[in-house]
Amino acid sequence: MNSSIVLLPGDGIGPEIVEQARLVLLKVAERFGHTFDFSSHQIGGIAIDETGDPLPQPTIDACRNAAAILLGAVGGPKWDDPSAKTRPEAGLLKIRKELGLFANLRPIKLFDELADASPLRADIVKGTDILFFRELTGGIYFGESGTSGSGEEETAFQSMTYSVSEVKRIVRMAAQAARGRSNRLTSVDKANVLEPSRLWRRVAAEVMANEFADVQYDVVLVDSMAMHLINRPSEFDVVVTGNMFGDILTDEASMLPGSLGMLPSASLGDGGPGLYEPIHGSAPDIAGKSVANPLATILAAAMMLRHSLGLTEEAEAIEKAVAGVITDGLRTPDLARGDQSKSVSTEEMGAAVVAKLAS
Ligand code: IPM
Ligand code: MG
Repeated sequence: MNSSIVLLPGDGIGPEIVEQARLVLLKVAERFGHTFDFSSHQIGGIAIDETGDPLPQPTIDACRNAAAILLGAVGGPKWDDPSAKTRPEAGLLKIRKELGLFANLRPIKLFDELADASPLRADIVKGTDILFFRELTGGIYFGESGTSGSGEEETAFQSMTYSVSEVKRIVRMAAQAARGRSNRLTSVDKANVLEPSRLWRRVAAEVMANEFADVQYDVVLVDSMAMHLINRPSEFDVVVTGNMFGDILTDEASMLPGSLGMLPSASLGDGGPGLYEPIHGSAPDIAGKSVANPLATILAAAMMLRHSLGLTEEAEAIEKAVAGVITDGLRTPDLARGDQSKSVSTEEMGAAVVAKLAS
């Protein structure tokens, strides 16, 4: 197979971790006889610095023509001024919208060897394996917004909307995924307060009753869900929710396995290229120090092979290699807890995964 892959390293630790994922993909190409053509483009703060735009048109064009996109991270204190004309995050929101990437898949899976890294007791997190489907191109993130008035009366608003078609497509995708797992789906909303949540709940129930009667289905309010994730995380399988609830709940859930540094995500639409990235941010405090954990990005590359290129065996090979280096005891500083003396660098971790793929 010959595929063109766009790399969007972005800011902070983005370039370091994307480079390790690229080296892993090169090894996969060699072992399985594929050719991946990589091209690198700008997004986020670096794009603002060099072009004034967090998502320059050449980046959009390259992404549209790619088989898949691998992103590092965007943002940093340098671009945090609230009165700035534009922000790195705007580039990320725009690429999601431009490519119609309405479904954000965030798997939260515990590596058994890392159970001690979790802030929760091992007996609570044991067996946790959740797949979140966060709606990514609608809801309050993209709602009408504005400001009016001045002084004490200055007011800002941002509205939350969901349409029937937006709810149907994400619920369908999540329910399909549930069929391939433990056949359970939980929809999370705030239907006791919000009108768009009431529409969400009604439409989701219809889709499930009419098309997925075989899938065990329940609904949970978002505030309860925040509680259940801490109390009984291992009882959930596939979870579907709106854009903002998904943003918050997946950050909460990302702590269950102990380090953000292990968690990949995929953003998918109807056909077209998917976008793959680690869940974590640009971590500017550790950028350039060779201490960032590249495994989330390497696992995102595996998701890319599976979901965009249809290379299941290759994806599994990467996942197995990552599990292997963890079993061997390799730890970047974020995973080492306590015993930093034995921790490895970003490059050493990447090289260890490459070596596992070769063996
Ligand atoms: C995420 C991030 C983004 C979001 C930011 C960086 C715009 O938090 O991917 O979860 O809020 O969607
Ligand atoms: Mg977030």
